[in-house]
Amino acid sequence: MIIGGSASQKLAAKIAWELGETICPMETRKFPDGERYIRIGGDVNENAVVIQSTGYPQDQNLIELFLILKTLKSLNVEHVKVVIPYFGYGRQEKRFRDGEAISAAAIAQLIEAAGASEFYSINLHENGICDFFNIPAYNISAMPLIADYIGERFENPIIVAPDKGALPFAEEIAESLGCECDHLEKVRLSPEKVETKTKNLDVKGKEAIIIDDIISTGGTIVNASNILRQHNADKVVVSCIHPVLVEDALLKIFTAGVDDVIATDTLRSDVSMISVAPLVAEVLKKKII
Ligand code: R5P
Repeated sequence: MIIGGSASQKLAAKIAWELGETICPMETRKFPDGERYIRIGGDVNENAVVIQSTGYPQDQNLIELFLILKTLKSLNVEHVKVVIPYFGYGRQEKRFRDGEAISAAAIAQLIEAAGASEFYSINLHENGICDFFNIPAYNISAMPLIADYIGERFENPIIVAPDKGALPFAEEIAESLGCECDHLEKVRLSPEKVETKTKNLDVKGKEAIIIDDIISTGGTIVNASNILRQHNADKVVVSCIHPVLVEDALLKIFTAGVDDVIATDTLRSDVSMISVAPLVAEVLKKKII
């Protein structure tokens, strides 16, 4: 039995199709005062898979997820696999300043307390988030899907990580495509502002593909794209797993001269062209990570 939360209806339907399962109807709405209402409309059995990304509006999507999990438990569903393709609050996985909440840990504990038996996510911002769970927790990489997509459309590009954190992703893709890889140095000054150091890059006349896990405000990508353009890259294409895309992020990115943006459908967006559905279905079927 597959249940898609309101943030991941289309993806849940695709995963159900891949698995040859049907989607359990679910009613969800908002009361006039803003509170959530959910109702599981179909017959339940002893196993369920719940799919719900927890991107914007994060708190609403999380509350809906908790209500679904609690309801399934109260209807005697024994085993509930929770798939959170994009795990919101994942970038606050530690205390950067005294007194801060370790939000990712708190969310993990709440998901477990609500009744999850297993947890699955895609490219968690930090793999260590899995350790916040006491239930089996799996972090699936969708980077091979991005590598395949790039491999089919670009000949010998250079893969560029916009910061050191994204370097392992860029290396993974470059290795699988047998092409070059480089990275930039970034310093985050505030949630909205980043500074990227210019350095010598050999991208002249090449197709440069920037790889990151998340595009949020777009600041990281705009800086990286400007540097690649200054170094005379022939084409600048951007790829990410999670298109968080705050406000006019896409506008800023294309205005900076980016030729294309490629993302997966862990979150709905105008650039979510690579579906993670076959990958998630495969993992759920065989549990291969
Ligand atoms: C940071 O650690 C992430 O990998 C991304 O680089 C970051 O979240 C992107 O944020 P923004 O789009 O706001 O620059």
